[in-house]
Amino acid sequence: MLSVEENEALCRVGPGTLMGELLRRYWYPVSQAARHAQAGSVPERVRLLGEDLVLFRSSVGELGLLDEHCPHRGASLSLARNEDCGLRCLYHGWLVAPGGSVLDTPNEPEGSRLRERVRQVAYQVVEAGGLVWAYLGPDPAPPLPAFDWVGAPRENVAIMAVKVGCNWVQVLEGLIDSSHSSFLHADQIRHATGTERSGGDFEHGTVHRPSNDRRPRIEVEDTPYGFRYAAIRRPLLDADKKKYVRTTLFVAPVYCLIPGMAGWTVNQFPVPTDDVSSTFYNVQYKHDGPVDEGQLRAQVGAMWERDILPGLQSRRGPANGWLQDRAAMADGSWSGIKGLMNEDIACQESMGPIYDRSREHLGTADRAVIHMRRLMLLTARQVAEGGSPIGCGGHFRYADLLAEDGLVEVERPWQDVSALR
Ligand code: FES
Ligand SMILES: [Fe+2]
Repeated sequence: MLSVEENEALCRVGPGTLMGELLRRYWYPVSQAARHAQAGSVPERVRLLGEDLVLFRSSVGELGLLDEHCPHRGASLSLARNEDCGLRCLYHGWLVAPGGSVLDTPNEPEGSRLRERVRQVAYQVVEAGGLVWAYLGPDPAPPLPAFDWVGAPRENVAIMAVKVGCNWVQVLEGLIDSSHSSFLHADQIRHATGTERSGGDFEHGTVHRPSNDRRPRIEVEDTPYGFRYAAIRRPLLDADKKKYVRTTLFVAPVYCLIPGMAGWTVNQFPVPTDDVSSTFYNVQYKHDGPVDEGQLRAQVGAMWERDILPGLQSRRGPANGWLQDRAAMADGSWSGIKGLMNEDIACQESMGPIYDRSREHLGTADRAVIHMRRLMLLTARQVAEGGSPIGCGGHFRYADLLAEDGLVEVERPWQDVSALR
């Protein structure tokens, strides 16, 4: 449980808020690189950390991320003409360069020096791993979170994104909460003897797990990038000799690595849009070759991708009861909601735009969630006092990070799961 004040401090993301200032010390994806591959791209409205911005590639090929509203009198630069090395506002023709300088004020008298006194907010932006990433914080920017998939061949990586109608912390808590999988995802998870690790059924889009233990023991260890935790379960076979260990990595401030099938990286995270909405990313990277449709279905649960409409909107939401199918539930489905991530998002949105954590009742299964909140609040306070944000000081390589699962002998520490790679 958090006090109302702590909950506010944890969740709010705008400029000048405690968490907003911490979150501004990291990079986030804001769009697909393909949308801005050509010089003179269509300006795109982007909302990140409660700020309205416009993303474009100028007529000479420079990527820019500017405050959306024209410095003259505020018309949206998403309407602007993309020409002459910048965005030319539709309203009175002012021209703003990707770096934020005003190059031209054509409705002012000849020789006017007004433009020299005006500067538009402009943020750093780079292209990597098929995405455009933005940094809204002070200089110098930290390194990009260059996970292994960021540098991988594009055909080996499937990236899906969808808008979620709730605060980013709710989405993040769902990612570091192993115990919900036995319930919410019961339709997708098969308990399989004879497997040592997570496996997948390409035909049916199910995930196999060598345990049916619904009461995992959670153990957490701090790391230079954040923390990792193990959910430890009794396996179906040899429970007196082995334990089933499943690790999750929390890479500050929002990135989570969870175990996929052998030879895959699964990276999921919420990008905080504002206080009451986020964009959920699901990245699946197959290390040894291109991702095919069947494998993707096995990884993410059948049907998920078909529920996303243009503009990354989900077909499911509170207005239609997340399209929950009660007849399917009478027929044996646990959730009545098709697709693993649709199940997650339904629960997270159902908590409300910003859940009031002073009303919750935490148990031992919530240890990783508790740890994340403490770590983020502590780091945010340290940064407010001039300290450095967690994960920005080196001592690890993003590309080396991987979540693992597998059977470990009972007398061995759970960390030995890393040796099974
Ligand atoms: S509002 Fe943009 S030029 Fe006037
Ligand atoms: Fe889930």
